[in-house]
Amino acid sequence: MRILIHADDAALWKDRLASRLPSAEFAISGETSDFQADYLAAWKPPASLFETQPALKGIVNLGAGVDALLDNPSLPRDIPIVKLRDAGMGELIADYVRYGVLHFQRDFDRYRRQQHHTTWREHALTPKREWAVGVLGLGSIGRHVARQLADDGYPVHGWSRSPKALKGITCHDGDDGLQTLLGKVHTLVTLLPDTPATRGIIDRDALAVLPDGASLINPGRGTLIDEAALLEALGTGEEENGRLRGALLDAFPTEPLPDDSPLWQHSRLWITPHMAGPTPIDEAADQVAKALTAMQAGEAIDTVDPKAGY
Ligand code: OXD
Repeated sequence: MRILIHADDAALWKDRLASRLPSAEFAISGETSDFQADYLAAWKPPASLFETQPALKGIVNLGAGVDALLDNPSLPRDIPIVKLRDAGMGELIADYVRYGVLHFQRDFDRYRRQQHHTTWREHALTPKREWAVGVLGLGSIGRHVARQLADDGYPVHGWSRSPKALKGITCHDGDDGLQTLLGKVHTLVTLLPDTPATRGIIDRDALAVLPDGASLINPGRGTLIDEAALLEALGTGEEENGRLRGALLDAFPTEPLPDDSPLWQHSRLWITPHMAGPTPIDEAADQVAKALTAMQAGEAIDTVDPKAGY
């Protein structure tokens, strides 16, 4: 089989995939003009790539989120798409979220601000068992995060559009379930895919349902959060206003986050550059090789539903 790779670290992918699929032929996009591929393994390919590849039989998305791929105007609509499922990202994102939850639960945000004012003041501790965390999105990564937090001792509420049952997690679904979850949680974690149904899901109304002093962690997609509503809920300045206490944000509608974004300057926001879940290449390459082999053999595999957007 002939596999075209498009990614920032394409040479690394080629090396890892070639050792797993020794009889396949590989090319890196942009390096050859006449390679007609059977399969594409890609992260955010440009529209022009599809125009030169009319014979594709399948695509492997080299990441968990398929929003950029599905938004591609030249994407062939009739071939299977496989995406990375967790592939070690779940553990990394769970660590990011644990850091964020501890940050707020153990008042590191407040102590940091106090340090700037040489203030020595201890805050009453809310124990883990009373610190409810909500996880929106129970796909492979959301489930991993929810389970890890539950194992750590937090009461965890999970939400998905359709009903799910997960041991040790209080699961909610649908619009009513979302309201119920939002009303309960000290920290909200957003791990939904970017789809028309999830864009702006954390808007002014949703933020208003969160208990006073709640915090937000977004390692998912920037489009989930209405930025103006977020800034409004935070209020200005370093003093907490009793509404949203602070947020740890890793994903933004435009990346890199533009220099003039007001988010950079807010003293109760923590900004990281989409680093919560870098793809561990060896685990991911195992999944990609398996998917390509299965597609080639015509075996049933778990594919992306372009209508659902994940
Ligand atoms: C992904 C990402 O979807 O890195 O894998 O955002």
